[in-house]
Amino acid sequence: MERHGPYIALVTGGTGFIGRRLVSTLRRFGTTVRVLTRKPGSGGSVRFQDGVSFFFGDLGDRSSLRGLCDGVESVFHLAGLAHTEPRAHEDYAANQWRTTVTGTENLLEEAAGKVTNFIYISSVKAMGEGGSAELSETAAPHPQGAYGKARFAAESQVLEFGRHGTRVCVLRLPMVYGAGCKGNVPRMIEAVDRNRFPPLPEMHNRRSMVHVDDVVQAALLSAQSSRASGQVYIVTDGHTYSTRQIYVLICNALGKPVPGWTVPVGLLRSAATAGDMIGAILHKPLPLNTGVLDKLLGSAWYSSRKITEDLGFHPTRDLESALPDMVAYYRTCRRS
Ligand SMILES: NC(=O)c1ccc[n+]([C@@H]2O[C@H](COP(=O)([O-])OP(=O)(O)OC[C@H]3O[C@@H](n4cnc5c(N)ncnc54)[C@H](OP(=O)(O)O)[C@@H]3O)[C@@H](O)[C@H]2O)c1
Repeated sequence: MERHGPYIALVTGGTGFIGRRLVSTLRRFGTTVRVLTRKPGSGGSVRFQDGVSFFFGDLGDRSSLRGLCDGVESVFHLAGLAHTEPRAHEDYAANQWRTTVTGTENLLEEAAGKVTNFIYISSVKAMGEGGSAELSETAAPHPQGAYGKARFAAESQVLEFGRHGTRVCVLRLPMVYGAGCKGNVPRMIEAVDRNRFPPLPEMHNRRSMVHVDDVVQAALLSAQSSRASGQVYIVTDGHTYSTRQIYVLICNALGKPVPGWTVPVGLLRSAATAGDMIGAILHKPLPLNTGVLDKLLGSAWYSSRKITEDLGFHPTRDLESALPDMVAYYRTCRRS
């Protein structure tokens, strides 16, 4: 594939939490970046800003992607819907499939014969959780929910695409943290700050996570190395965290004393069962129910040895070092 003109990287999801970090890192290296976004509307109009061009389109609408990959060398495909499944489950599942599976198919069609590298940012939910057992890429996949199933299907499309000449790589991420992230850790920061999070006992559960900067590192290594071609890699920060540890780290980062008492697990289980019953009567899930509690106390533990051995990936951050920035971000958002 002979190329003329500057190296262009396409980042789908470049307006999102991880994508923004990736775009700014690529810019620091002098790469010209094209970002796919649905805003302010689809239709292929492009606007330029500081070495970044915005291409307006929607992954679910094939015709809106026409020309998106012209001149592009590497695609970093990050666009997707978060995995939190709201109550309107059927709509969510259909939307998830449209964005993740049909969207990836549309993007691959557009990329065919044009791009050299295709990096797909997926999730460990494509493989499922192994409870107290550490999972690696060789584990038999048990995709979880509409999100996990769509991720797994999209991964398969990307790997199949790689059999026809393009270098492809799939990165499976656990929960990603860093200032500006959404999801459970910022929710927990707020709950602890407002004294609404119970001091849980140490249950020795193990959860994997990764800092956003290390996701960016992994994505760039994958695009640079031919060894990554056709591979699936799990990316973590190399640590596991129990919910109790996360709670204590958050208290420390907020400058709050860690309470000298803990809520007995039996009491939490009774409250969660009551939460299920009341939720069923009200037709509305309560903040504490057995699903939430199982997630809070359960394990989801993954190994990133393969990407370390193959590509020399070394995580640079852990949750403790990231929390001060995350707390500062939380406080700024609260003030504004
Ligand atoms: N954050 C995590 O903890 C985590 C963990 C595992 C995996 N992941 C995966 O990593 C990727 C990035 O996560 P993130 O947290 O950075 O996501 P995010 O902040 O929620 O951003 C989502 C991005 O997807 C784009 N997008 C959504 N639907 C689209 C569509 N139909 N067409 C085009 N673009 C669309 C959005 O662009 P516009 O709104 O500008 O159109 C936005 O840039 C996602 O695929 C996510 O599932 C994230």
